[in-house]
Amino acid sequence: MSPIPKAELHLHIEGTLEPELAFELAHRNGVDLPYADPEQLRSAYAFSDLQSFLDLYYQLMDVLRTEDDFTALAEAYLARAAREGVRHAEIFFDPQAHTSRGVELDAVVRGLRRALDAAPERHGISTKLIMCFLRDLPQESALATFEACRPYFGVAIAGVGLDSAEVGNPASKFADVYRLAREAGLRLVAHAGEEGGPEYVREALDVLGVERIDHGIRAIEDPELVERLVRERIPLTVCPFSNVRLRCVDTLADHPLPAMLAAGLLVTVNSDDPAYFGGYVDENFAGIREALDLTDSQLRVLARNSFEASFLEDDEERRKA
Ligand code: ADE
Ligand code: ZN
Repeated sequence: MSPIPKAELHLHIEGTLEPELAFELAHRNGVDLPYADPEQLRSAYAFSDLQSFLDLYYQLMDVLRTEDDFTALAEAYLARAAREGVRHAEIFFDPQAHTSRGVELDAVVRGLRRALDAAPERHGISTKLIMCFLRDLPQESALATFEACRPYFGVAIAGVGLDSAEVGNPASKFADVYRLAREAGLRLVAHAGEEGGPEYVREALDVLGVERIDHGIRAIEDPELVERLVRERIPLTVCPFSNVRLRCVDTLADHPLPAMLAAGLLVTVNSDDPAYFGGYVDENFAGIREALDLTDSQLRVLARNSFEASFLEDDEERRKA
């Protein structure tokens, strides 16, 4: 059966770095990895929470050094995504995680764009690129990164997001940079309600004015917030495998996705950091289908939601779905 056409809206390009490519790039760039081989690296992917994942994730990024590395990374994801039925992808990247290591912003953006710009013809996938601010760093760093990225706004970068360690780093810390992003005409999203409670989701909406919430699973704990998300049709980009691997949810069978669907939330299914969490978007679809007994019609709703929740224009959305 061919995979259901879908949009992927929550995907960190750095989280698609497969161990084999990490070793290839490490070799090419003379980087020493503290693992013997890809298998040993893969066996280190046992996380106790978000932070334990982020520690390894930022460490492994060190193999990404040149424009060509970023092209190779994005090209590998797009080829895989095409096989999984992805027709449109809104892709996150973390500029600060690269510039802080001395990699030029230009190398990152140009490298990614080279693969993304070829994707419609090569893979039948349209894309948008979203720069994320690392929320565990001060807002001053986000502001400097925002200004450095300004030449790319509208042409290479379509929006801003907020990721990294959530608890203790609420959305309100980033009010100024999101105001500037809105004034610059960028689309606004933020991770919220992954490890943090419903109040983190509320702040992202009220203080940052985001159009979409990344994760948002803990919103389900607050009926008033759920009612608002339903009423305002705010999409939630849910990542089931990620939630289990980062221990936000005990098992796939315990995932709140059915309750979220039943509440009328505009839920989408995504892979987050698929190289680390055991599967790409279609494996997430297959996993929830099995563990949560979802019907074909529920899976179709999830796929349809992904186009509605995307930043595609209405006519583009209809053509893709
Ligand atoms: N960066 C990459 N994946 C992330 C996640 N799931 N939550 C927060 N920051 C991230
Ligand atoms: Zn994420």
